[in-house]
Amino acid sequence: MLAALTSCIAQKNSNSPISDNSTAARPVLHFTPEKNWINDPNGMFFYQGEYHLFYQYNPYGEKWGHMSWGHAVSKDLITWEHLPIALEEEDKVMIFSGSAVVDHQNTSGFGTGNVPPIVAIYTAYDAKSGFQSQSIAYSNDKGRTFTKYDQNPVIDLKKADFRDPKVFWYQADQKWIMTVSLSQEKKVQFYSSKDLKKWDLMSEFGPAGVTAGIWECPDLFQLDYNNESVWVLGVNLGTHSIAGGSGLQYFLGDFDGKSFKVNKSLTKEPLNFIEYGKDFYAAVVWNGTPKETKERKWLGWMNNWEYADKVPYYGWRGSMSVPRTLSLEKKDGFFYLKQEPVKEIDNYKKKSIVKSEATIEQANKLLSSFTKSDSLSFSTVFTVNPSTIHDFLRFNIKSKGSSIINFSYNKNTNELILERRKSDKYVNSKQFPTIQKIKLDHSDKEFQVRIIVDKYSMEVFTHDGKYVFTNLFFAPNSVLNVSFETSKQDQKLVFKSVGLDTYL
Ligand code: FRU
Repeated sequence: MLAALTSCIAQKNSNSPISDNSTAARPVLHFTPEKNWINDPNGMFFYQGEYHLFYQYNPYGEKWGHMSWGHAVSKDLITWEHLPIALEEEDKVMIFSGSAVVDHQNTSGFGTGNVPPIVAIYTAYDAKSGFQSQSIAYSNDKGRTFTKYDQNPVIDLKKADFRDPKVFWYQADQKWIMTVSLSQEKKVQFYSSKDLKKWDLMSEFGPAGVTAGIWECPDLFQLDYNNESVWVLGVNLGTHSIAGGSGLQYFLGDFDGKSFKVNKSLTKEPLNFIEYGKDFYAAVVWNGTPKETKERKWLGWMNNWEYADKVPYYGWRGSMSVPRTLSLEKKDGFFYLKQEPVKEIDNYKKKSIVKSEATIEQANKLLSSFTKSDSLSFSTVFTVNPSTIHDFLRFNIKSKGSSIINFSYNKNTNELILERRKSDKYVNSKQFPTIQKIKLDHSDKEFQVRIIVDKYSMEVFTHDGKYVFTNLFFAPNSVLNVSFETSKQDQKLVFKSVGLDTYL
């Protein structure tokens, strides 16, 4: 986020990492860099069985600065191979966020031989002029190494806040489309190009929806639901998102190859969010994944600009959310987006158990026997029938008796509530403690909750992926305990089922 960027002097510092051995262990299901600072995911494309993930990276330190594109590849979105930096800051021009495409028809002419070039489209931030312009770079070795185009920039408005190009191939018109933000103006611009080099402005969208915070990392893509097709415009909000600070809003509507128009009749609410937690930002979808219009794959930077440089440095600072499948759902005539953790996670299960008709006591026994190890990486899935609850059901992670983070369903108010306490020893920020509440507009016969805990994050997926809460939390894993809690009235509560998985 640019407030942070302009005031941030790039640093080559190296404080010693937190040496709490139990917490220093890496997350199992989440991408982390080998070392140093990361923020947004960038340039995500899928090609020949490989998911490429580039990311905003400071090669020299634990704070934002010297932004370059780090790079990793994966066959299953869980195990990542770290590769050399793909695009580096040069002559005080940083490489900000952007995207990458496989240029199958060699429209750019960058291709040599039979291998299609991979073209990265990114924002070049010139620290000398303060301007942001769009530049490209190409790869002739399937994305391993990149050469910056010698006639960069390809779009230059001589503006300070013009960034984060997301490009995709628009089959109907045989052209490339770029979605890019005018951050301070709270606008998204759409450009088109036949060759990725010469770009024409087609239209603008915005301001709309939440306009209090700056707009960053926009993304436009199509999703189908049975025979209906909807266009999704995602806009990341630097501040003022639903849980406070950074987050993401989306619009549903139509795109005719030139402009995007919101179709208000598609959604129930005037403002739409897909994430209700504080730590899911700069998310954009992978280009070129299988069954693209049915479902997309994506992940977000698991952090928030409100305190991103204050979260613990473990030798690295920052991680990505669990990779997710994003799809369209329709209920009572209205569409919404839903997210589920990718299925590949299941291949990493070490121990699994499922118990049906479990009492609270039995469920807690199960939890404590599975989470005794000194590092927490597990997921639990439970199904309950709200009509059997009198007051509330809570899933609580505690340290020395006090709650660190918890998720509850409150029957009296029909709310989903996520509470995170302050964590002074680890994150010195007034914005870190949070209460996130969603009021449900109906009561379910039963609902399922899946919670993934992986060292220092808790991701809650519920109501078939309609509500997701992604949050970091910090405390030594060795003193954490996990349990379900209820009021006295609910001591006899019986889960329809409770499952637990631990991971490698
Ligand atoms: C979003 C962002 C982008 C920018 C990048 C810089 O988190 O501010 O708008 O390109 O980070 O690191």
